[in-house]
Amino acid sequence: MTNKYMYFVANWKMYGDLKSLKSLDKVIRFSKSNQNYKHKIIYCPPNTLLYPFINKVKKSTISIGAQNCHTHESYGPFTGSVSSKMIKSIGAKFVIIGHSENRSYGDTDAVINKKIKSSINNGLKVIFCFGETLNQRKKKLTNNVLFNQIKKGIFSIKKKQNIIFAYEPIWSIGTGAVLKKSDLEMNVRFIKNKLKTKLKIKNPKVIYGGSVNPKNIKNLKEINNIDGFLIGGASLDPKKFIDIVKKTFI
Ligand code: PGA
Repeated sequence: MTNKYMYFVANWKMYGDLKSLKSLDKVIRFSKSNQNYKHKIIYCPPNTLLYPFINKVKKSTISIGAQNCHTHESYGPFTGSVSSKMIKSIGAKFVIIGHSENRSYGDTDAVINKKIKSSINNGLKVIFCFGETLNQRKKKLTNNVLFNQIKKGIFSIKKKQNIIFAYEPIWSIGTGAVLKKSDLEMNVRFIKNKLKTKLKIKNPKVIYGGSVNPKNIKNLKEINNIDGFLIGGASLDPKKFIDIVKKTFI
């Protein structure tokens, strides 16, 4: 059993309604009665559910995060957008930034950098996503791509300790395809090494995301030095989500 603190981030994407609140009951109960597993659960529902989720988990150790925010730090004429200040003001503690789905809608490294800055300035912790495409992997560009995304994303940010680094190979997201353990381990080692030596971050936290499920977790949890998982599809089902947490520790 791992004796390390592990993060489990549930990314609900554009799923869920008020009825889904009920699915948290099981997870809250599980989390309370299994404090011997050193786990930190962070639910990231869509914005419409942020506030009810925050209320729901109040008496538990579960935290809530948003899935994205605007670059602007406070308020402004940005129809349809939400700022990190607004997210923080309702009691959320985290925000996901740089998810490949948002990168594909136009979030450049510079935009991501601004969003991370605004979030940290407003007191949120950031789950910063990055990862290579299959084509980049085939061309053996993975290391370059990863280091570039990381470097640009956190450029000139001071409180780097407030960032959890989420490595998500884009071609693994929602596809069921997962890198071989040895390759994954090599990439995680590369990321941690760069974070420590080049970017001067002490004890950086690196989590993995991309098709994590109750079956492959047994293998994924063995990745040397991994600090947790970012879970999309499987996190919508409380049973599967609990299973993933449990199997990480047994
Ligand atoms: P997935 O999503 O677990 O459904 O692959 C992960 C993510 O996009 O964060």
